[in-house]
Amino acid sequence: MAVLEKLTSDDAIALENKYGAHNYHPLPVVLSKGEGVFMWDVEGKKYYDFLSAYSAVNQGHCHPRIISAMMEQAKTLTLTSRAFYNDMLGRFEQFATSYFGFDKLLPMNTGAEAVETAIKICRKWAYEKKGIKEQEAQIIVCENNFHGRTTTIISFSNDEDARKNFGPYTPGFIKIPYDNTEALEKALKENKNIAGFLVEPIQGEAGVYVPTEGYLKKARALCKEHGVLFIADEIQTGIARTGKLLAVDHENVKPDMLILGKAISGGAYPVSAVLANNDIMEVIKPGQHGSTFGGNPVAAAVAMEALKVVKDEKLAENAEKLGQLFRSELNKYIETGTIVKLVRGKGLLNAIVINDSEDSSTAWDICLALKENGLLAKPTHGNIIRFAPPLVMNEEQLNDCVAIITKTLKGFEQ
Ligand SMILES: Cc1ncc(COP(=O)(O)O)c(C=O)c1O
Repeated sequence: MAVLEKLTSDDAIALENKYGAHNYHPLPVVLSKGEGVFMWDVEGKKYYDFLSAYSAVNQGHCHPRIISAMMEQAKTLTLTSRAFYNDMLGRFEQFATSYFGFDKLLPMNTGAEAVETAIKICRKWAYEKKGIKEQEAQIIVCENNFHGRTTTIISFSNDEDARKNFGPYTPGFIKIPYDNTEALEKALKENKNIAGFLVEPIQGEAGVYVPTEGYLKKARALCKEHGVLFIADEIQTGIARTGKLLAVDHENVKPDMLILGKAISGGAYPVSAVLANNDIMEVIKPGQHGSTFGGNPVAAAVAMEALKVVKDEKLAENAEKLGQLFRSELNKYIETGTIVKLVRGKGLLNAIVINDSEDSSTAWDICLALKENGLLAKPTHGNIIRFAPPLVMNEEQLNDCVAIITKTLKGFEQ
C-alpha cells in the first residue's frame, strides 16, 4: 500500500479550502484516527467525540466487529448492482425486517435518498391504494424540519440557507407547526388529498426539540383515522440514540413507514433504508425506483453486524442511563451558572441552549474552547450546541466529559 505523506492540520485545511467546494464550515480540527468514543487529530491530540458524525457512529469509531464484517465482505464481493441477485442482500432484508418488525425493506445509501424513497412510495400508495387523483397528493411536513439536501427535500425546508436560490421548488407539501396535533388535525380535515405525514420524532438539526409527551401517539392515531401514512424519519433518532431502539418506541408508536440511515451501518459505510409492510411496499415495481449501490453486499454485511452490535452491547440501555446522568449533571451546573439557559434531549441526543442572542458567535466560540479542552461538538442552529457522543461511552468517560464541558462553560461566564 502506498504510504501517504503526513499532513499538518494547516496543510489539510489549506487543501480543502483551495480544492474543495465551501459547502461546510467545519471546526478547525483535522482528524486522522478514531476508536470507540475517541478521535485523534493529525498532530496526535486526543478528543472525546461528542457529535458521532451527526449520530451515525453510535457503535463507536471503527468498531472491530463492524470493520471485520466490512473487510471480509470487501475481499469477497463488493458490488453487483441490482441487475443480479447477490447472496447478502436477502439475508440483510430478512434480518432487518425481523429486527424492526416490518414485512419489507428497500435499501438505499444516504439518508436523503431514503427520505426521497419514502416520499415516492407514499405518493404512489396514495394514487394506487387510496385513490387520490394523480398529481394531487400532498404530504404534511413540520416547520423547522431537516430531512436532507435534495431539491425536493429542501423545497419543504424553512431554513433559508438550505433553500435560497435552489428553486423552483417541488410542490405537494403542506407545512404545519411541529408538536402541534391541532394543526395536524386541521390540515387532515381540510384536505382530502393528504397521502402522508412525514415527521422527525425529535427534531435533531433544528436543535434537539423533544415534542410533548403523547404527541407522536396522537399524531399516529390521527393519521390512522384519516387514512394517511405516518412516516417516521429516524435517520438521526433511530438505532438506540435516544435510549430506545427507535425514538417512536418511547410512545409505543409503530409508523407505516420507517426511514433509517446513519447508524444502521455504525458510520462505517453509507447505508439507508425504508421499511414498510407489504400493502405499502408492494406499490413499487421493477424499474420504478433504485440505486446502483443500494443494497450492495458490503452494505448488507456492515448493516447486519452494526445492528447486532447495538443489541449485544445494550446500547439503547446505556444511552438511556448515561443520558439521564448527563442532563442531571448539566442541570446542576445550570442552577449556578449563567451561560446556559437549558439542557434538553432524550438518551444521548441532547443539546444546550446558550444564554445569548441567536446570531451571536458564543456557541461557536464555546465549541472552539471545548476543542482546546479535548472534546468535539458543533453548534446546530443559532446558539444551540448538540451533544451526541457514541453510545459505547462508559460512565467514567461521561463524567470526564461533563467535567470538560462545565469547566469550559465556566470560562464563558460573565
Ligand atoms: C432526520 C434526518 N433526516 C435526513 C437526514 C439526511 O441524511 P444524509 O445526510 O445521510 O443524506 C439527516 C441528516 O442529518 C437527518 O438528521
